[in-house]
Amino acid sequence: MSLNIVHAQQLVTVRGDAGARRGAALNELGIIPDGAVAVRDGLIQWVGPTDQLPDKNAHEFDATGKIVLPGFVDSHTHAVFARTRADEFEWRIQGMPYMEILARGGGILSSAKAIREAHELHVRYADRFLEHGTTTIEAKSGYGLNLDNEIRMLEAMRNEKRLEVVPTYLGAHALPPEFTERRGDFIDAVIRDLEVIAQRKLAEFCDVFVEPGVFTPDEARRIFAKAQSLGLRIKVHADEFQSYGGTALAVELGATSADHLGAISDADIQRLAQSDVIATLLPATLFTLGENRYAPARKLIDAGAAVALATDFNPGTSPTLNMQFVLSLACTQMKMTPAEAIVAATINGACAIRRQQRIGSIEVGKQADIAVYDVSDYREIPYFTAVNFCIATLKRGATLFPL
Ligand code: NIG
Ligand code: FE
Repeated sequence: MSLNIVHAQQLVTVRGDAGARRGAALNELGIIPDGAVAVRDGLIQWVGPTDQLPDKNAHEFDATGKIVLPGFVDSHTHAVFARTRADEFEWRIQGMPYMEILARGGGILSSAKAIREAHELHVRYADRFLEHGTTTIEAKSGYGLNLDNEIRMLEAMRNEKRLEVVPTYLGAHALPPEFTERRGDFIDAVIRDLEVIAQRKLAEFCDVFVEPGVFTPDEARRIFAKAQSLGLRIKVHADEFQSYGGTALAVELGATSADHLGAISDADIQRLAQSDVIATLLPATLFTLGENRYAPARKLIDAGAAVALATDFNPGTSPTLNMQFVLSLACTQMKMTPAEAIVAATINGACAIRRQQRIGSIEVGKQADIAVYDVSDYREIPYFTAVNFCIATLKRGATLFPL
C-alpha cells in the first residue's frame, strides 16, 4: 500500500520532541509549505517539500490548496452509550443544574440504566469521528456501574476496528442506587472489579469522577492505589465544577492526565505545571452546560503546564465529537492561539494516552494517521466555527473517509 500526498498548501507536521509540549513549544507547528508525505505500509516513510519527494512511484493524493494535519487525538470521551439525554438538555435550559439532575437519579445514572437495558453496545458514531478528522479516541466505561456492564462497555471499545479506541475503566463515575448508604461497599466493589478488568486486559487507564457529591479524593486514592498496583495508568475527572483536590491527587499519584479543571485553584495550577501530568481541557462541556466560565488555559500555559484538548463526547454534558469545534472554543473562549490548540489536540492528546511515540504528528516512522482539510490556512480550522472542513481521513495509511 503506497500513497503520496503532494502539494499541501500547508503540511502541518507538529514535529519535535516526542514529549509533551509546553510553553513556546505549544506554538510550534512545523509547517512545510507545498508539503508532501509518503505513506508506505501504514507508516510515514518520508516528509518534506513536494519538489524533493524521492519516490514518486505511488498512488497520488493531490492536496493543492488544502492543508494536511495529523489525525486528531481525542483523549477524553464517553463514546459508548445507549441513548442520548436530550430530555435533560431541555431541563437544564429550564434552569435545573447538571449536578442536581444527577443527585435526583438522572444524568450519569440515567445513562447507566440505559446501558444495563441495552442488548448490544458499541462505540457510537465512530465513522463521524473519522469524518471530522479524528483518528484515535480514548473512551471511558462508567455507565455500567457494575462488573458485567462495565465489561460490556470495555468490550464494545475493543470491538471497534476502524477508529483506534484506548479504553479507560471509570467504574467510579457515580454511586449506583443499589449502593446508596453503602458508599464503602461500592468502593470495595470497584477495587475488586479492577482485578478482573486488569487480568482480562480490558483497560489501560483507570479514572474516577472526583467532585463534591460524587467521589472524594480519599475514595479515589484507594481505587487508584489498586489500579496502579495492577499496572493501570491514572486519569482523573478533576475540579470540574468545584475545586476539590482532584488535580492535587493526580499530581501526587503521577497520573497521566487531570481532566476538566474548570474550577482549578491557583495553587493547583502551579502544582500541575510543575508535574508531568497533562492538563486536559474540555471546553465543549462547559459550553453545552451553558456556562460562561472556562478552564484557565492561559494561566495553565503561562505557568508551564502541558495542555491537551478533547471533546468529552458523552450523552449528557458534551454531545459534540467535532474537535474542530473544540479548537474554536479553545481559541475564542480560552484565548489559546490556533497553533496551541492544534498542538493540544494532536501530540499532547497523544501524550495524554501515552501514544506519543506512534501518533500525534506527521513524522517519519509514525503511523500514517492523517487528515486533509479544505481550507488554505491552519487558522481557518478554529476560525470557521462548527463547520466540518475535513475532506479525507487516513488511519494507518488506509483511507477511512471518504469511503
Ligand atoms: O466528563 N463529569 C463526569 N462525567 C462526564 C459526564 C458524563 C455524563 O453526564 O454522562 C463529563 O462531563
Ligand atoms: Fe468526562
